[in-house]
Amino acid sequence: MRADIGQQQRYAHSVRVARIAELLARAHGENTRRARLAGMLHDLARLYPADRLLAECATRGISIDDFERQHPVVLHARIGAELARERYGVTDEGVLSAIRAHTLGSPDMSRLDAVVFLADALEPGRTFDGREVLLRLARHDLDGAIRGVLESSASYLRGRGLAVAPLTTAALARYGAPGADAIPPNGTRMEDHFCPT
Ligand SMILES: [Fe+2]
Ligand SMILES: [Fe+2]
Repeated sequence: MRADIGQQQRYAHSVRVARIAELLARAHGENTRRARLAGMLHDLARLYPADRLLAECATRGISIDDFERQHPVVLHARIGAELARERYGVTDEGVLSAIRAHTLGSPDMSRLDAVVFLADALEPGRTFDGREVLLRLARHDLDGAIRGVLESSASYLRGRGLAVAPLTTAALARYGAPGADAIPPNGTRMEDHFCPT
């Protein structure tokens, strides 16, 4: 598995995501084994270059939208789910959905999707201001933490003139404007969050 997940740094990130996903799953009554599995496998395709991600989609007849065509790196989430199914025999649609949604979020995230999305964004290897606040929030308020992460990501991207994915925009509309307790301190830096990873 280590070879599939990739370089040591990526493997260490996946282990941390699995641990945080397990912690959040336990806090919210979600199945910890499913959360850990999705966390371990979520970045299986993260190290694929853009042309390979596009080719993997073409091979499987997966249609992609304009944003994905312009930012193929986000496809590592959808291709990661395919690899989890094909290489590791994962048939649990909930686990596959969590892998698929981990990068951009979605307007209709399941609790498992939310746990893995937040674990990826808030694992201790992330360095942006507000990470710990949001992780604490995530232990008792998944929606509030998602709102905070989405807002941080969107404001980071907009501040640099970068596009926000339609799925993320839809998720922002669903989870609403950030509540006062979900706003990380000013100066939030998301460079290694929405790079995206
Ligand atoms: Fe990722
Ligand atoms: Fe990741």
